[in-house]
Amino acid sequence: MKNRILVFFSFFLFIFHIPSIYSNPKKITVLGTGYVGLVSGACFADFGNQVICADIDKQKIEQLQSFYIPIYEPMLDEIVIRNAKKGNLSFTSDIDNAIQSSDIIFIAVGTPMNEQTGDADLRALKGAIEFIARNLIEYKVIVIKSTVPPGTCAWVEKFLAEECGIEPEKFSIVSCPEFLREGSAIYDFLNPDRIIIGSHSSEAFNQIYQIHLPLKEKNVPIINTTLGAAELIKYVTNSFLALKISFINEIANFCDAIGVDVKTIAYALGLDKRISPLFLNPGPGFGGSCFPKDVAALIKNAEKNNVDLQTLVAALKANEKQKEKPFEKLKKQFNNNISDKTIAILGLAFKANTDDIRYSPSIRLIELLKEHNVTIKAYDPEAMKNMQKIFPDIYYGTSVDDTIKNSDAIVVMTDWNEFKNLNWNYIKNEMHENSVIIDARNILDGQELKQLGFKYDAIGRAFLNSYKYKRAGCFLYNYAMCL
Ligand SMILES: NC(=O)c1ccc[n+]([C@@H]2O[C@H](COP(=O)([O-])OP(=O)(O)OC[C@H]3O[C@@H](n4cnc5c(N)ncnc54)[C@H](O)[C@@H]3O)[C@@H](O)[C@H]2O)c1
Repeated sequence: MKNRILVFFSFFLFIFHIPSIYSNPKKITVLGTGYVGLVSGACFADFGNQVICADIDKQKIEQLQSFYIPIYEPMLDEIVIRNAKKGNLSFTSDIDNAIQSSDIIFIAVGTPMNEQTGDADLRALKGAIEFIARNLIEYKVIVIKSTVPPGTCAWVEKFLAEECGIEPEKFSIVSCPEFLREGSAIYDFLNPDRIIIGSHSSEAFNQIYQIHLPLKEKNVPIINTTLGAAELIKYVTNSFLALKISFINEIANFCDAIGVDVKTIAYALGLDKRISPLFLNPGPGFGGSCFPKDVAALIKNAEKNNVDLQTLVAALKANEKQKEKPFEKLKKQFNNNISDKTIAILGLAFKANTDDIRYSPSIRLIELLKEHNVTIKAYDPEAMKNMQKIFPDIYYGTSVDDTIKNSDAIVVMTDWNEFKNLNWNYIKNEMHENSVIIDARNILDGQELKQLGFKYDAIGRAFLNSYKYKRAGCFLYNYAMCL
């Protein structure tokens, strides 16, 4: 009898316990398999946990199940496929089952901007919470990784307890905002500047702390705080970075007006240890799925609490104006006669190494060019499929070469490496006469382009076209940068 119990017990353990060489692996479900959910799920699986990535988008899940990665992100395919093959990572659209199968549920659904009000649209989050509510049979830690306004986690706690009638012992809420950047998402997830864990429950904090231990071993600071503070940290981080970008963009415009090189200004500014050199490269305005919506949501959230965040209102306003700069500069080069021209846009993604075009400055440029009946040719190494959904009627090139051929101007809108090392001598011969280059990312050598005979402008570099610069040669400029 004793032996039979032993055999039965071993069989039970064999079936229900997945053996692992990792200490204390957790069962994790991630709801939302976008940029954040897929990257987090893949990395948590790589730490040795058992991860299910669940999404309501059946097509996306089918693609992932057959090892097709629906977004472009360096290293993501390798890490997803390796862990899926190992059995640590699976994909499902059966959300109920995914929730029941795990002890820790991460929510990484989108929280886009409500275009009418500027508030964060929390409908997807509410949908995820409702899924969890009907599957809360045993205790679970619910971790909100989506960026949500301060007070949202408290609302979720109240909603589950009061509207869904779930006993408080059945769940804990944790806020663990994500700071990864698209284009380097895997690197950022594995090398964060800090991890924020907001929770009122020490048990829940410990569980989430433990799954981050591989990062703690790299000396990444882990900050334990309240739910509201964790939520706010994410918003103030993005808002500060957006402020910094709008600031340097406005300074670049001023540099254009007085004939000073913004690169020298930004370089000197960044050497000040209190400021840091990052996020001081002027450009065509910030876009992407985070900065525009997070700044707007913070402004709205503060307004509801009778606080006026004037600096952020100004940063958004400056950004909208900045998105029109490439077009304004282009128009100026053609003395306002732009309608019969063919313009090649290099770069559609809101930044390099991603296929994301959400709020991309290229969208505004295309809108303005279309209003002026310009022939538009566009190229991006990864983002053309996404842009085609918004503008199906413009020409998408198969390569840089194909795109620039017979064009009057090139506007560089994204800082892809591919655009940094082009053969401009060759390009000059492929374009129409008096061709124009607008470098909206300041990644090209303006001096070289001008020597080749291009008409050239960038952001905050109008000094290259000034009479004084032509007279003094590049002496002063080189002096400033090289000392
Ligand atoms: N993208 C970034 O760079 C980034 C960085 C840090 C934080 N964030 C934040 O992370 C969150 C997610 O952003 P993202 O860019 O990954 O979004 P995304 O739009 O790429 O992906 C969201 C996914 O959630 C799915 N979804 C919606 N409702 C669902 C539900 N009820 N259950 C399961 N899945 C559901 C959608 O189908 C979609 O696949 C947002 O709050 C965003 O602000 C994003």
